[in-house]
Amino acid sequence: MTDVPPEILHRLTVHRQDHVLGGWDNLSPAGRAGLVEQLAGIDFAVLETLYGRRNEPHSVLPPRDRVAPIPVDPPAAPPAAVAIGERALRRGEVAALVVAGGQGSRLGFDKPKGMFPIGPVSGASLFQIHAEKVLALSRRYGNPVPFLVMTSPATHTDTERYFGENRFFGLAPSDVYFFQQGTMPALDLATGRLLLEAPGKLFQSPNGHGGTLTALAETGLLADLKARGVGHVFYFQVDNPLVKVCDPGFVGRHVAAGSEVSSKVVFKEQPGEKVGVLAATDGKCGIIEYSDLPVEWAAERDAAGELVFRAGNPAIHIFALDFLDRVTGRDDVLRYHVARKAVPYFDPATGQPVTPPAENALKFERFIFDALPAAERWLAVETKRDEEFAPLKNATKTDTPEDVKRAITRLHAGWLERAGVHVPREGSGEPSHPVEVSPLFALDADDLAAKIPPGFAVSGPTRLGPGEGPRVPTSG
Ligand code: UTP
Repeated sequence: MTDVPPEILHRLTVHRQDHVLGGWDNLSPAGRAGLVEQLAGIDFAVLETLYGRRNEPHSVLPPRDRVAPIPVDPPAAPPAAVAIGERALRRGEVAALVVAGGQGSRLGFDKPKGMFPIGPVSGASLFQIHAEKVLALSRRYGNPVPFLVMTSPATHTDTERYFGENRFFGLAPSDVYFFQQGTMPALDLATGRLLLEAPGKLFQSPNGHGGTLTALAETGLLADLKARGVGHVFYFQVDNPLVKVCDPGFVGRHVAAGSEVSSKVVFKEQPGEKVGVLAATDGKCGIIEYSDLPVEWAAERDAAGELVFRAGNPAIHIFALDFLDRVTGRDDVLRYHVARKAVPYFDPATGQPVTPPAENALKFERFIFDALPAAERWLAVETKRDEEFAPLKNATKTDTPEDVKRAITRLHAGWLERAGVHVPREGSGEPSHPVEVSPLFALDADDLAAKIPPGFAVSGPTRLGPGEGPRVPTSG
């Protein structure tokens, strides 16, 4: 171990983490360099503090009288607001940012989740659908919408390669910005010691979607966006193919209100729904995670019989660039959330891999919504679940690929019906055939109605694709 850099050795010894050097002598020069690089990026003092807080409650809710439901604007934007949003898009002032650094462990797909084929007829991936929305918006408003794709070490290489192989889905590569979020090591629950994934390799995972903020600042992207004249960043998650990317009515209301953070909300219908809710504490907007919402609060109803805390969070926000600039410089805005997980690891003492029978590790993540209370001016706008929120989360049970494909079919079948097209339906009310409208054909119901020729009908799996006009029915 004579060639361990003295500064690293000193820090490991002081913080009692020198077990990670077990097996050092057997590592290749590249393996040693890799371990040193991983260790150099670790703030041991922060880890110690987090470990010390492992038994503290998840979060401390203020007393009920300091927490109020938030005012929520209705889904339909006034025409004047739409015009303001469209002007911002024409001027190139709005960027789209998708977070795609998660490991997608519940879905169990061996590629980045954005590559999952979700188009019910075409099998288009989540990335393709998002990229085509950005392209369609850029064409509609005559100015490219910069597309920011946040990846992590778990997804970066595959994602970049996938965009390259697909010629960026028609976008100019200079308008697509890939940037990587940071990672956090996992700690052994019993001892607070770093876990290894393999000899000489620390177990590290993406630091949560809250990592967006530091990554934007550290990669210099915020400065690039400012130089491009961008004033607002539309944030969404890769797993939701229904999101109305850069929805002009939403952008317009955000701009008109001078809001620093604007959020879409989907109203909860049942008290027990597992979704975080937006609420105001001492006048600041924030999110109460569903696991933190006391059952009595969740069940409260107002005079109209509606749930009081019903503003569910579909993770669709617009951030003013000045706000991002302000909060990314501050370390106190996003705290780390601690999760107990079962993490297989390599034991340097025995030289063996271990699969733990129960939770053995602490993992740390930052959440983007913890930035909301830092906003002086904020805004919430209702959207309908059927129109804008169908997240792909699990392989089975809920939020599955089949659920999400059905949600796309339902939405697009509804657009066709609004355009006067007959869509056959089952007795259950579900469309009889999968239906899909490419964003390059139409971005919304009005767009579609303007393009559908008279007499058009659905009689099998139907996809309306780009450039070719309605070419249906298609098979499969
Ligand atoms: P989820 O919390 O649902 O995580 O992320 P996930 O990675 O998709 O799936 P599981 O929990 O491992 O099964 C919501 C969104 O936040 C992104 C994800 O890519 C997804 O778009 N995310 C999550 C990141 O970009 N980075 C992270 O560190 C975590």
